[in-house]
Amino acid sequence: MQLSLVVILGAAIFTTIAAAPALPQALPGCRDKCGDLTIPFPFGIGDGCYLRPEFNLTCDQSTTPPSANLTGHTIRISDFYLAEAELQVMTFTSRDCYDTKGLRTNRNTPILWLPPPYTISDTKNKFVAVGCDTYALFQGFRGEERFITGCMSLCDSLGSVEYQDSYCSGIGCCQTSIPSGLKNCTVQLSSYYNHTSIMDFNPCSYAFTVEQGQFKFNSTSFQQLNSISQIPMVINWEIGDETCDIAAQKREGFACKADYSKCVNRNTNINGSGYICQCLPGYRGNPYLPHGCQDFDECKALNPCSIGSCVNLDGNYSCKCPKGYKNDGTNKQSCIKDEPSNLLLIISLGMFHLRVTGIIIFMVIYI
Ligand SMILES: *[C@@H]1O[C@H](CO)[C@@H](O)[C@H](O)[C@H]1NC(C)=O
Ligand SMILES: *[C@@H]1O[C@H](CO)[C@@H](O)[C@H](O)[C@H]1NC(C)=O
Ligand SMILES: *[C@@H]1O[C@H](CO)[C@@H](O)[C@H](O)[C@H]1NC(C)=O
Ligand SMILES: *[C@@H]1O[C@H](CO)[C@@H](O)[C@H](O)[C@H]1NC(C)=O
Ligand SMILES: *[C@@H]1O[C@H](CO)[C@@H](O)[C@H](O)[C@H]1NC(C)=O
Ligand SMILES: *[C@@H]1O[C@H](CO)[C@@H](O)[C@H](O)[C@H]1NC(C)=O
Ligand SMILES: *[C@@H]1O[C@H](CO)[C@@H](O)[C@H](O)[C@H]1NC(C)=O
Repeated sequence: MQLSLVVILGAAIFTTIAAAPALPQALPGCRDKCGDLTIPFPFGIGDGCYLRPEFNLTCDQSTTPPSANLTGHTIRISDFYLAEAELQVMTFTSRDCYDTKGLRTNRNTPILWLPPPYTISDTKNKFVAVGCDTYALFQGFRGEERFITGCMSLCDSLGSVEYQDSYCSGIGCCQTSIPSGLKNCTVQLSSYYNHTSIMDFNPCSYAFTVEQGQFKFNSTSFQQLNSISQIPMVINWEIGDETCDIAAQKREGFACKADYSKCVNRNTNINGSGYICQCLPGYRGNPYLPHGCQDFDECKALNPCSIGSCVNLDGNYSCKCPKGYKNDGTNKQSCIKDEPSNLLLIISLGMFHLRVTGIIIFMVIYI
């Protein structure tokens, strides 16, 4: 069962690749790779290859693998989520460690300084603290306004550490949501008893902001976090500081260049927030490049017609139904059994009724 599913998925991926040659992601004449990572416009490496200076990337070949960094920062980009205008970046974890005498041996709480227009995603990340004598505060700024959140975790033995389905329950690990639109983030990490009575299994506290699903907690996490210094987090970006309406009116410099693209306001409740571009439903690709949004073959990639044959349309699809089936509703995107209609049913029932009364009348007359 599982094997066949894998095979089907494999086939689907293969056919999409074969059908649609990968569209260029960078401007013509620009480099689009740093190591294995594909760099999509509006980001670019080198002058003339990015939309705005804040999307200027440096490919640092001296690291393994090569790092695509925001120019002038040690923030390494590990993935682009272009449709959501997000980046996955690697950030340093914070730690606070003690020796058996209860003296601090190592404390490192790096500041995450994000230049505009980058902010920490509130929807994709959690702030997590790990340890058994641990409290952690997370502080960030939205404009000039300061926000603080945090959590604590206390436990007496490794046996009391709780983890179910790798969920951070508050015993050995706690997690909390963070407010939207924050930058200049700092972590304050402390303990109540300097880890003195739990030294044998947990001499350190750890804290970090991490992409949801990327950190799984269990009793080996204390050990593992010793050797992990960077962890993936998601940050948001946006174009400029104007809404779609204003930016589109000016035209010059409006970033949603592709046909079949649309402009979306980034964060309507934060003053001076910009916009992002997306391909229209049924299209995929890079909305920041002319002709960047291309029809997406739903039939090949999603196999959406469980009954009938799928027909790909420009920006859409429909299902052609086999005999005995008909399209459901007006959108032609599924097939249902073609039951005899109610009218026919009434007529045939009526005929039956007529026949029965006919027979009864016949019997009454002749008996
Ligand atoms: C973009 O980054 C390159 C280094 O990768 C640098 O030489 C150039 O000056 C930067 N341009 C701007 C406008 O910051
Ligand atoms: C890029 O980021 C990585 C990881 O943080 C860092 O080790 C490297 O020094 C940075 N490179 C440059 C040129 O800033
Ligand atoms: C805990 O550690 C701090 C920092 O090293 C130190 O100032 C304090 O005296 C320690 N407290 C105890 C109870 O050991
Ligand atoms: C964020 O950090 C930068 C650089 O340290 C500083 O110039 C800026 O004023 C800080 N912003 C806030 C709101 O603290
Ligand atoms: C804990 O999680 C790691 C991976 O995150 C896994 O390799 C290990 O087997 C898990 N250990 C337990 C006891 O579940
Ligand atoms: C938003 O920004 C504009 C222009 O900078 C300013 O006039 C206005 O008072 C701001 N509104 C709020 C709610 O901060
Ligand atoms: C596809 O066409 C149907 C029927 O015309 C319409 O209801 C639906 O919104 C379309 N979907 C897209 C993604 O354009």
